[in-house]
Amino acid sequence: MSSSRAFTSLLAAFLLLHSLVTLVSAQGSTSRWQTLSGNPPLVVARGGFSGLFPDSSYYAYQFALETSVPDVILWCDVQLTKDGVGICAPDLRLENSTNISILNKYKTYLVNGVPTRGCFSVDFTFSDLSSVVYTQGVYSRPNKFDGLSPIQQVENVAALKPSGMWLNVQHDAFFTQHNLSMRSYILALSRKVVVNYISSPEVVFLRSIAARVNPNVTKLVFRFLGPNDFEPSTNQTYSSLLKNLTFIKTFASGILIPKGYIWPVDASLYLQPHTSVVLDAHKAGLEVFASEFYNDVPFSFNYSYDPVSEYLSFIDNGDFSVDGVLSDFPITLSGAIDCFSHLGKNASEKAKVLVISKNGASGDYPGCTDKAYQKAISDGADVIDCPVQMSKDGIPFCLGSINLIDSTTVAQSKYSNLSAIIPELKTGSGIFTFSLTWSQIQSLTPAMANPYAKYELFRNPKFRNDGKFLSLSDFLALAKNSSSLSGVLISIENASYLIEKQQLPVTDAVLDALSKAGYDKQNAMELMIQSSNSSVLMKFKEKNNYTLVYKVDENIRDALDATIKDIKTFADSVVISKSSVFPDNALFLTGVTDVVPRLKSAGLPVYVETFSNEFVSQAWDFFSDANVEVNTYVMEANVNGVITDFPLTASRYKRNHCLNLGKNTPPYMTPVPPGGLMEIIPRELLPPAEAPNPVLTENDVAESPLPSVIARVPSSSPGDGTAQAAAPRPNRQHKIAACFFLTNLAILFTVFSLL
Ligand SMILES: *[C@@H]1O[C@H](CO)[C@@H](O)[C@H](O)[C@H]1NC(C)=O
Ligand SMILES: *[C@@H]1O[C@H](CO)[C@@H](O)[C@H](O)[C@H]1NC(C)=O
Ligand SMILES: *[C@@H]1O[C@H](CO)[C@@H](O)[C@H](O)[C@H]1NC(C)=O
Ligand SMILES: *[C@@H]1O[C@H](CO)[C@@H](O)[C@H](O)[C@H]1NC(C)=O
Ligand SMILES: *[C@@H]1O[C@H](CO)[C@@H](O)[C@H](O)[C@H]1NC(C)=O
Ligand SMILES: *[C@@H]1O[C@H](CO)[C@@H](O)[C@H](O)[C@H]1NC(C)=O
Ligand SMILES: *[C@@H]1O[C@H](CO)[C@@H](O)[C@H](O)[C@H]1NC(C)=O
Ligand SMILES: *[C@@H]1O[C@H](CO)[C@@H](O)[C@H](O)[C@H]1NC(C)=O
Ligand SMILES: *[C@@H]1O[C@H](CO)[C@@H](O)[C@H](O)[C@H]1NC(C)=O
Ligand SMILES: *[C@@H]1O[C@H](CO)[C@@H](O)[C@H](O)[C@H]1NC(C)=O
Ligand SMILES: *[C@@H]1O[C@H](CO)[C@@H](O)[C@H](O)[C@H]1NC(C)=O
Ligand SMILES: *[C@@H]1O[C@H](CO)[C@@H](O)[C@H](O)[C@H]1NC(C)=O
Repeated sequence: MSSSRAFTSLLAAFLLLHSLVTLVSAQGSTSRWQTLSGNPPLVVARGGFSGLFPDSSYYAYQFALETSVPDVILWCDVQLTKDGVGICAPDLRLENSTNISILNKYKTYLVNGVPTRGCFSVDFTFSDLSSVVYTQGVYSRPNKFDGLSPIQQVENVAALKPSGMWLNVQHDAFFTQHNLSMRSYILALSRKVVVNYISSPEVVFLRSIAARVNPNVTKLVFRFLGPNDFEPSTNQTYSSLLKNLTFIKTFASGILIPKGYIWPVDASLYLQPHTSVVLDAHKAGLEVFASEFYNDVPFSFNYSYDPVSEYLSFIDNGDFSVDGVLSDFPITLSGAIDCFSHLGKNASEKAKVLVISKNGASGDYPGCTDKAYQKAISDGADVIDCPVQMSKDGIPFCLGSINLIDSTTVAQSKYSNLSAIIPELKTGSGIFTFSLTWSQIQSLTPAMANPYAKYELFRNPKFRNDGKFLSLSDFLALAKNSSSLSGVLISIENASYLIEKQQLPVTDAVLDALSKAGYDKQNAMELMIQSSNSSVLMKFKEKNNYTLVYKVDENIRDALDATIKDIKTFADSVVISKSSVFPDNALFLTGVTDVVPRLKSAGLPVYVETFSNEFVSQAWDFFSDANVEVNTYVMEANVNGVITDFPLTASRYKRNHCLNLGKNTPPYMTPVPPGGLMEIIPRELLPPAEAPNPVLTENDVAESPLPSVIARVPSSSPGDGTAQAAAPRPNRQHKIAACFFLTNLAILFTVFSLL
């Protein structure tokens, strides 16, 4: 399939009955909006869907139209060519947004008085640009869609018939210096196409057209740059211009301001209280549009890497709402406005999916601490999890890893000399839980997990050492005390090693703690025991009525019938990885496996891990939007539960307004067609194919029975046992794969038939 046909199919997957979806489909009353007009805030797509496709390209604009609210406004940064043709491009200089640099016509000009080097639009006629195509200018975004779309005139964007067009004129003075009149261009253009908004950071430009545009058709918006930047025509700083909103109202009906004018952040990226700028502007009769919203650029820690939370703080904070938001990811903004605003605490759950925490709310607090669990409960997790580890003195407690270095500051403590190399547990050295007593472990400082540190994405530094660790009994008491939880999940790993080499009978210790906590009877709270070792689950099956959860600890592409039958003998449900559902290659989904339907048809509910807010944890197909990801796993793959270190995201997803709308489901709450993006990538830019994931076989599942403990003999040194505790399992690859299980067409067909 050609890229453009593939793109059309991809759009079709979102299009649905889009035309039937009326404005603000999901929410009845709009009167709750604290905008100037009382209408919902506008979605303004900056350069189209520029978070994924090259800014200003046909693909970006078309994709924004199909995945956003119906009244989305397309934003074009207008630049003029040498012959006065208006094109859309994010900057005067074209080298970062197109492949023009190959022409090697760099020049240096004064821009607002600053010597600036680049390939300027004013040095090329439109026909010079005929072979120039848009490219991705943001290095952290995929460059796989470069070259698909030639430079567009403003009229080409208008021809897409958006419900609104917004032209931004960033540098009128520069074009004037080059004897090009932006004013004449804009006035001539607005006789041909409907221009709904014109913005500029230059006062003189807006004043020069104010009398010539029909305010009932075209609104003028004054754009604020940084507070200390000088406005070129008045030579005042933007912060001083902000002090006279009455003056701005004389030539504009609105202002466009960077988000920091509304919610300032301190030097460490923490939000300060909001300013009064929105309320002041509304009082002056000015609409307020906010800019600088990106899913994939770190924003304030207060939002926990969740762009929906950020949007909500601008549109649904109880005090005010901005009148529109300029976004590179209009799908996320559309969802925030239409699906997630005005949810209220009591919004009912509309999706049947279990939200299971991963080490508590470990995206917000150090994993497995009291704080992480309390946050998970208040965020609406259905199930909280305790990965059980054993202390030297035989106390079972909760911690994400058997190696204390992963989640405490033990390496900087006086116990740092206890480090050991135990090949069965982990390569390299560690300081293991069974080398310290419970009271020593309680004295350690918890440490926040930072799984995406290599991308410079750190979790809330203020809470990085907060909380205290809990014994399994403390954990069970905390869970029992909560009225909102439906269950707890206790996971047990490395049981054979602990029993045989450390004489620490972890399974018995768990049973004992459960019995003391009064969990061994039929209880309102579901008690889930999870392990990747079938023998551990067998042990619990003998004893009591627990829900047994088998964790498949590798990425798989299928499971043999006999294997599934086997699993049924010792487990009630299964945990698999995200890639075992939707495999990917270079973070582009390649399709969908049959693993979920096959396990489910055998009567095994499927839980999937691990869902995180950080965009780098998500495939490109999900648009750096954790809600799109969860929605696709729930609605397209029909998983029964999600395991997440940010339970708030999944639990709020379940309550959003846009679920269960059937044929009226808006595109921003439609699951993505897995593999759809991969189909658009031109052949020469495709990532190299990778080996497929393995199939889960009976060998993988079979384990030798757990050894039994004769007596508790404190071990002299933790590193002394080198023999394998359990029969070694077959070597497995942990690789991401590129398997096309279904053709893309079949997937699209599936999407259609679901709706
Ligand atoms: C292009 O990218 C370079 C390197 O990041 C940057 O220095 C330059 O300012 C960018 N130019 C434009 C027009 O954005
Ligand atoms: C830009 O890329 C396109 C498509 O790859 C190519 O046809 C064109 O020649 C390139 N333009 C320049 C100026 O090299
Ligand atoms: C603009 O026009 C003026 C007068 O016609 C001329 O002197 C000047 O060189 C022109 N500037 C440019 C950049 O073409
Ligand atoms: C704008 O609309 C108002 C009210 O509908 C009307 O009175 C006014 O004449 C219109 N202005 C222009 C310039 O068309
Ligand atoms: C603008 O104002 C600043 C400080 O008020 C002054 O230094 C600068 O020379 C002025 N620039 C122009 C072009 O008037
Ligand atoms: C604010 O602007 C208005 C309108 O231009 C003007 O009349 C007024 O004097 C200005 N106020 C201040 C404090 O500069
Ligand atoms: C942001 O988080 C910091 C640290 O927790 C807190 O002190 C501050 O009050 C928060 N800001 C807002 C506006 O909630
Ligand atoms: C939410 O539900 C609780 C209990 O069901 C009730 O007491 C409370 O009044 C409700 N709150 C709102 C805002 O409806
Ligand atoms: C580790 O250091 C402590 C003192 O800080 C000492 O008491 C202990 O014996 C040492 N342990 C080992 C295994 O060296
Ligand atoms: C149980 O909850 C109550 C009230 O919410 C609290 O006072 C008490 O400390 C909690 N107990 C435990 C063990 O968390
Ligand atoms: C111990 O558990 C970790 C994961 O929890 C696993 O990677 C490792 O293979 C286990 N070791 C043994 C001996 O079971
Ligand atoms: C499990 O529950 C069933 C009824 O739900 C009960 O009859 C049976 O005795 C229980 N088994 C154990 C080991 O508690």
